[in-house]
Amino acid sequence: MDRKEFFKSGLILGGATLLPENSAFSQSLVENKTDVLVDKDGNFFQQPLLYTESFLEPFMDAETLHLHYTFHHGGAVKAANKDLQMIKKSLDENNLETVDYWTKKLSYHLSSHILHSIFWTNLTNKASSPKGDLLKRIEKDFGSFDKLKMYLAKTAKDVDGNGWGILGYQPYTDKLTILQCENHEKLTQWGVIPLLVIDVWEHAYYLKFKNKRTDFVDNLFSIINWDNASERLENALKITK
Ligand SMILES: [Fe+2]
Repeated sequence: MDRKEFFKSGLILGGATLLPENSAFSQSLVENKTDVLVDKDGNFFQQPLLYTESFLEPFMDAETLHLHYTFHHGGAVKAANKDLQMIKKSLDENNLETVDYWTKKLSYHLSSHILHSIFWTNLTNKASSPKGDLLKRIEKDFGSFDKLKMYLAKTAKDVDGNGWGILGYQPYTDKLTILQCENHEKLTQWGVIPLLVIDVWEHAYYLKFKNKRTDFVDNLFSIINWDNASERLENALKITK
């Protein structure tokens, strides 16, 4: 089976449904229901990847992507469901002794689920750059696209321990903003809607880049899907205006 046939086949691999090549670019987040993270019963679930596990090579290798999507992201989804159950149990039994523990855990695991779900859609296998409203706002709020890239990259590279560099839209000020998130949930601003997230946990890069987080972040800028970030801005403006 050659690469083209492989993409067309819709195989199931590593728990991820393989959709046709470029489907990530031809259908919107809304049409794909890409950001729907709970099922009809209110349980968290993981959306399938919109591409094969080798789609981002050589910039992100298939093994890293497989482990990251299946075990790290997948593990957070399972844990978030458990956290929610334990909170419900506490309430059902009128015993709030450990509810603060599960509430903190839910914040951590659900934030991981949300950021990872966005992260997969923020990546593609070709270079792109921001256009339209996103570009105008980048120029207004950061000076230029180059300055934004420099700022976001530096912020991501310098996270203390594990975390994320995030470009988000802050509806309270109608501005783009950069966050340096520790773990999955710390150092946020209330209200910020993430548009572009850069995972700098070691699991995101260690197999290929070893301890060179800086190289991983620089490399990642070659496969950012700026169309996806634009669409996220458009959606954020719609729901907050
Ligand atoms: Fe991750």
